[in-house]
Amino acid sequence: MLLRIPVKFDRFGAILMYDVSEVVSLDNLGLVRGDTVFGLNRDVLLDYASKTAIVIPVKDEDLSLLEGVISAIPLASPIIIVSASSTDPVNVYKHELEIIKTHSKLTKRRAIVVHQRDEAWNEALSGTILEELLDSKGVRYGKGEGMVLGVLVASWLGARYVGFIDSDNYIPGSAHEYALAYYTGLAMANSRYSMVRIVWHYKSKMPPSDIILRKWGRVSAHTNSVLNKAITSYRRIETDVVKTANSGEHAMTIDLAMSIRWAGKYAIETYQLVYLLESCYLSLEFGERTCEMLPEGVKIIQVMTRNPHIHSEKGDEHIARMAAESLGAIFYSSLANSDIKTLIKSTLIENYHYYEDPPRPPIYSLEGVDPSKVISRYLMLSSMALDITTG
Ligand code: GDP
Ligand code: CO
Repeated sequence: MLLRIPVKFDRFGAILMYDVSEVVSLDNLGLVRGDTVFGLNRDVLLDYASKTAIVIPVKDEDLSLLEGVISAIPLASPIIIVSASSTDPVNVYKHELEIIKTHSKLTKRRAIVVHQRDEAWNEALSGTILEELLDSKGVRYGKGEGMVLGVLVASWLGARYVGFIDSDNYIPGSAHEYALAYYTGLAMANSRYSMVRIVWHYKSKMPPSDIILRKWGRVSAHTNSVLNKAITSYRRIETDVVKTANSGEHAMTIDLAMSIRWAGKYAIETYQLVYLLESCYLSLEFGERTCEMLPEGVKIIQVMTRNPHIHSEKGDEHIARMAAESLGAIFYSSLANSDIKTLIKSTLIENYHYYEDPPRPPIYSLEGVDPSKVISRYLMLSSMALDITTG
């Protein structure tokens, strides 16, 4: 893959957020270098792939979609499936396990499958700061909660980088492209604390009736706009640099993943940016919190991919809840002054018929958590997890 090297960036305190970098070529076979583009040769690409664990959150998705996504991720990358799928009355989880077993048998890929509602978590996490993830039956439902487990497993595996790819993707080619964008983008950033976030690229043509172009296009437009306005009101210089507030498809260094705080449910993607801006911009400029990522600072790369993002449609209510949870990450942060709070409420009313204050996201810190201890304990206790070393 060749990425256009972004020329523009905005600096917010210790954060460098780069303008969108396009995928210039999906496959740079035969050419690595050009002016103002960045690509990796095969050896370096392989090195990045093997150091990147890909986390796939799944909750009762069509199994053929999950299988397509798994087939798309380069085999050098270990995969971590974090499932919250039902086990009763239909045991969807069992079918997911079968798919991973078959895949690993054929490919010998390193794969770990864990279930979020596994009571083994209760013991594995008790006494740690992550106890807050728990209810009486394992880790609470929520995409963000599942992603935190994915980060712990990735760290336990010894991965240097962790990437996330949703399991409800209809186009394996796009999942493949995300993985390449992660390896290439993280190499381009080349720093201890960096993150690559995907900007979806699609033209608005209606696909067949059983699939639909990702509606997060709409939620994303709102969240991006609110976040840019919140930054603008602090900085007093207008910006529209944030293009990936809701990007479920993103990757980062493990060092960054272990340093930031994580939000639960669908607030997670927006909150990553909110947390960084709060602790590494506002606190530095206006003195409240300290930025754990100093002296290196944080680099945020935004990559616009070529394949369309087509995922499963889950209805208007689902979209409204997501918009509220996502905007809630901004609403309760120190980025939101009263104008921004009013804007969030009117955005929710006008676009989603959502009349309440957005929900306050649960926030989790990984500080002091030892992933190797937690995950080895979990795997020892669990009768649901699957750890495939050689296939
Ligand atoms: P959207 O794509 O942002 O509209 O949100 P989705 O509802 O499609 O969720 C994104 C991904 O997270 C999909 O792969 C879901 O199957 C998965 N997911 C949703 N909720 C949960 C959860 O509670 N736990 C886990 N582990 N995954 C979830
Ligand atoms: Co989806």
